[in-house]
Order: sequence, then C-alpha cells, then structure tokens
Amino acid sequence: MNNISQLPETITTPQAQRFYDRLGINHDRGERYERLAKEVGLARLALAPGQWVLNAGVGTGKEQKLIQAAIAPAGVAWGIDISRVMLDLTRSRVAPPGSQALCQGDIQRLPFPAGTFDRIFCTYVLDLIPAGAIPTILREFHRVLRPPGRVVLVSLTEGTTLASRAVIGAWKSFYRLSPLSMGGCRPIRLTHALLKAGFSRVQRQVVVQLGMPSEVVVAQW
Ligand SMILES: C[S@@+](CC[C@H](N)C(=O)[O-])C[C@H]1O[C@@H](n2cnc3c(N)ncnc32)[C@H](O)[C@@H]1O
Repeated sequence: MNNISQLPETITTPQAQRFYDRLGINHDRGERYERLAKEVGLARLALAPGQWVLNAGVGTGKEQKLIQAAIAPAGVAWGIDISRVMLDLTRSRVAPPGSQALCQGDIQRLPFPAGTFDRIFCTYVLDLIPAGAIPTILREFHRVLRPPGRVVLVSLTEGTTLASRAVIGAWKSFYRLSPLSMGGCRPIRLTHALLKAGFSRVQRQVVVQLGMPSEVVVAQW
C-alpha cells in the first residue's frame, strides 16, 4: 500500500498498448460513467484561445475535439498515446492541423522541450499506470508545462458514498483476480504525489456518476 493506491501494481505498458489497440472504439462505452468528471475537468482547464495544450493518453479523441475548438484559432492541441488504434480514432475526429499534432509514445518520456504547454489534461490514464512510475510522469508533466501552467487529472478513485464504496469494492475484487480484465484501471489518489512533483495549489473533488467515483485534481506549476 502507498499514498497513490492500495493496489500499486497494474498491467505493463506493452499490455496496455495491446489492450487499447484491441478495445478501439468500444472504449467510448465507458462514457456513461466518466462523462460528468471529464466535463468538470474540462471546465477546470480554463482554456483560452492561443493556448498550447497536451492531452496525455488522448484515447478516441472526444475531448481533443473540444479542446481544439476552445483554443482556436491560434492554439495548438497535442495528443500522445501508446496505442496506434486510439491515435487513428482521434485523427478521424479532429480537424487539421490538430490531426497532425498527434504522436505515439509513452507518457513516461514526453518528446517535448521544457516549458512547451500552458495546460495538460490527462483522463483515466494514470489509474492504469504502476504506482512506481507515476512520480516520473508527474515530473514530466511539470517539466513540459510553462509557468503558470495548469494540470488537470481525472482518474478512478476510492468511493465516497455508500453506493460508490460498494461499486469500488466490487471493482477491486475483480481487479485482484485479473487487472487486465479491468483494463488495468484501479482507484488512485494523486494529490500528495503532485505536491512531491513540484506542483502547488492542488485541489481535489470527487464526482460520482452511476455509482462510479472519479477524482478531478487540479494543480498549478
Ligand atoms: C482508459 S483510456 C482513456 C483515454 C482518454 N484519456 C479518455 O479519458 O477517454 C487510457 C488511454 O491511455 C493510453 N495509455 C496507456 N498507457 C499509456 C502510456 N504509458 N503512455 C501513453 N498512453 C498510454 C491508452 O492507450 C488509452 O488510450
């Protein structure tokens, strides 16, 4: 047990890549549990025209389209993902030049110079990363942000209500049997790790949709 998760280990990066390559557009079925928290996260990004934004683990591109529209015409929305299939889905959703600002890679090693971005958005990705690798990723986010940049992280978290505690209890039972069957996702808490990575003014709220609890964490460079 550590301060990020009671279940620190999860699937490997190659397993995640294969899982999300296979999942493809079926990924969007999870929207009914995640939509509200993502909407809160997008609002907390406080996007404005001209900003540079990184969507880390961009997935099928629904949010990328909204980000692109909010920062147009001069802003740049980059997306990175380990899965080629996810990147192709995003590419089919976003208009040029955003469709060119996509790269395949591991968020543990971001291929961008220091101080590139005003905002970083990362939703339902860190909850499938081994706890030992999360500090490295948060330091990478800090490196590529330019002051006074902001990061918004949305992740599965521990339950806060009777219903959401029951849902997460059942989730963890399945997870213990097979992390891969749950896409490697397990509940996490990121506030402490963000402070350790150099971020300040860390704020956290929990959003529950259909019994599924998500934390929306906002932090400043
Ligand atoms: C649950 S999906 C979330 C996608 C999107 N952010 C959303 O909220 O809809 C997790 C995504 O993270 C990507 N991913 C997993 N591990 C990664 C890594 N180490 N580096 C980059 N992307 C990764 C997966 O390929 C997948 O697209």
